[in-house]
Amino acid sequence: MLKILTTGGMGYIGSHTVIALLESGHEVVILDNLSNANIEVLARLKKITGRDVPFIEGDVRNRELLAQTLARYGFDAVIHFAGLKAVGESVAEPMKYYDNNVNGSLILMQEMAKAGVFQLVFSSSATVYGDSKVVPLTESAEAGKTTNPYGASKYMVECMMRDIAQADERWSMVVLRYFNPVGAHESGLIGEAPNGTPNNLLPYICQVAVGKREFLSVFGGDYPTPDGTGVRDYIHVTDLADGHVKAVQTHQHGGGFHIYNLGTGIGYSVLEMVKALEQAAQVKVGYQIVPRRPGDIAVCYADATLAKQILGWQAQCGLEKMMQDSWRWQSQNPNGYDV
Ligand code: WQD
Repeated sequence: MLKILTTGGMGYIGSHTVIALLESGHEVVILDNLSNANIEVLARLKKITGRDVPFIEGDVRNRELLAQTLARYGFDAVIHFAGLKAVGESVAEPMKYYDNNVNGSLILMQEMAKAGVFQLVFSSSATVYGDSKVVPLTESAEAGKTTNPYGASKYMVECMMRDIAQADERWSMVVLRYFNPVGAHESGLIGEAPNGTPNNLLPYICQVAVGKREFLSVFGGDYPTPDGTGVRDYIHVTDLADGHVKAVQTHQHGGGFHIYNLGTGIGYSVLEMVKALEQAAQVKVGYQIVPRRPGDIAVCYADATLAKQILGWQAQCGLEKMMQDSWRWQSQNPNGYDV
């Protein structure tokens, strides 16, 4: 049994990982500033797990709060989800992204070291690969070519973790590069609840299907792909959560710096995602093909062999379950957590 601090544990991926950790017999505490999460998630976690998860409202950049929390609980590890993640916003407000994502991670690691906590699992992203011409992507593919501050901030934290682990063998540093998280817990009680207009594809498609949006704008129909629309590696959020459990358990001892792709290894196009959601929801989703979104790449999907070999982890959920669970969450919670 491990005692684990999840920063950003009230968010979409964090909350699903909290459930997976508790179901695996671990103890969890959540630190979250609620800047992109709803306090209602705590009640939903209780309904799903029967547990009152200790929650501390606060920001990882608050050194005093972080030090108090780390000293109070005696954690074995930290899983660091807290961070900003909107690509477009990062271009408009780079300082906000470097302060939250890079400065926040540095403060976290400094306070962890002072508290004698030396295992960190970090929420990174396939966006660090930038517009790689080589797919499927392995962890040894060139990274750091990303063209937006969000992706750059993720890569900078990866480099900090690498260098700190190199300098001090007490550290066990694990980077998890997510591909495209989708879906929701099968209870329909927690899921992705973007503030305002969804940036990501599937929440937008679901909002069209439930009647909240008129139609989907398909960003580009002229990519070098089978149907001309962008191809991505969509992975069920519960598979992603299980990947975190395997990672924190596998690398509890032994130190070092480790990177894993968490993807399915299968790419689907935008139009294939539209069709799949229509089948799950039995609803037509209107769309219009519009010009490409600046910064988008044509194709991105994972080679997740390393996670299978070392962590004993492999994505289990197929496209149909991703859509069924997404639709259940969206149709049962058309206003997200705003009850
Ligand atoms: C997927 C595909 C779009 C919206 C980004 C980040 C990544 C992670 C996930 C944080 C693309 C197309 C989308 C729409 C569309 N971020 N699309 N109409 O850009 O692959 O990845 O989000 O966790 O780090 O880089 O995800 O969902 O925005 O786009 O046609 O309204 O859907 O062009 O092909 P992306 P996405």
